[in-house]
Amino acid sequence: MEKLKKWVNKLANIFETSNKISGIIKNEDILGYEYVPKKLPYREGQIDEIADAMKPMLNGSKGTNLFITGAPGIGKTASLKWILNELDDHTDNIIPIYINCWNHRTKYFIFTEIAGKLKVSFTMGKSAEHILQNIKFKLKNKGVVFVFDEIDKVEDSDFLYQIVSMFPMSCIILVSNSSDYLLKIEPRIKSRLMARTMNFKPYTLDEIQGILKERQKLGLRANSLDPQHLRQIAVVTHGREDVRVGLFLLKESAKSAEKSGRRKIIEEDIKELIKQLDCVVIGNTEKLSQDESMILEAVKARNGNVSGEVYDKYKDLGGELSYRSFKRYVKRMSLLDILKTEETGSGFKGKSTIISLN
Ligand SMILES: Nc1ncnc2c1ncn2[C@@H]1O[C@H](COP(=O)(O)OP(=O)(O)OP(=O)(O)O)[C@@H](O)[C@H]1O
Ligand SMILES: [Mg+2]
Repeated sequence: MEKLKKWVNKLANIFETSNKISGIIKNEDILGYEYVPKKLPYREGQIDEIADAMKPMLNGSKGTNLFITGAPGIGKTASLKWILNELDDHTDNIIPIYINCWNHRTKYFIFTEIAGKLKVSFTMGKSAEHILQNIKFKLKNKGVVFVFDEIDKVEDSDFLYQIVSMFPMSCIILVSNSSDYLLKIEPRIKSRLMARTMNFKPYTLDEIQGILKERQKLGLRANSLDPQHLRQIAVVTHGREDVRVGLFLLKESAKSAEKSGRRKIIEEDIKELIKQLDCVVIGNTEKLSQDESMILEAVKARNGNVSGEVYDKYKDLGGELSYRSFKRYVKRMSLLDILKTEETGSGFKGKSTIISLN
């Protein structure tokens, strides 16, 4: 028996090694849209400028608030996450908080998300203001950097007024694709914020090629993509002005070469994918629709419960989908690995689905 076990283990090792050798993709996460590289070439200037805005906080003062704008897929989120990671690694006195407002569109959801990140406890059902007070208590004597990404998705920007008023030692950074967002918010909030605008410019063709080359080196096996093919990917990416297009082409062309049993990506792999570019959604996977965000909030509150109970919570939160549509959404979110669903055996109430966070 022992001998058989050893033999099976040996066989498993052989398969594992041979898989590693034949695969082109070394690390799929590195080719993902949410990955934050250790180096962000061509954004050093912007990163310095953002760091300067935070500098006064090191002496216990208020930072300069910023409004960052620019087209999709040009490193706004990546630059901010990079800086927040650095802050987190180097100081305990300034707390970085990143909120993607696409997923948290109301004051209540934003404050509960911040509370969750800071492990601030609060009683469910209490007002947003009560939660904010608890957050303030937790952050007393600390500096805090708030990044509100996709700020234009927020239903009511009034919460910014509360944040500015309650956190004197803070730096508030708003990010949006729409450059006129600041013009649309109430003058009262705008004058309290006094945010300086920073515009991220699209990358040049050579910069895009440089970025993709770095990702190729980290994510793909050496010699699996020839320089002329990398150039081809960079040219298409430059035409669409979104680095995500290049990442999509790198990852998917590697997969299609792997599927054909090749160790090299060929022009055909890339050409086939370029044809599909208009049909696939190349976007931020962090972006959920409003109903999906509400479902996510409901699951957070009723994690591990049966779908009927999660649906009740979703309705409490103001959701308007029918139960049938709700279940369709849940199915989609589980396919996207955002949620986990599990069928229970047929109890006396019949079969049901347990929904939990992934
Ligand atoms: N200078 C860079 N170096 C390395 N990777 C980069 C750079 N700029 C962008 N990327 C990569 O491109 C992808 C898209 O960037 P990011 O998410 O920052 O775009 P964005 O400007 O925030 O777009 P959106 O407005 O759609 O949210 C990410 O995977 C990011 O890591
Ligand atoms: Mg972004």
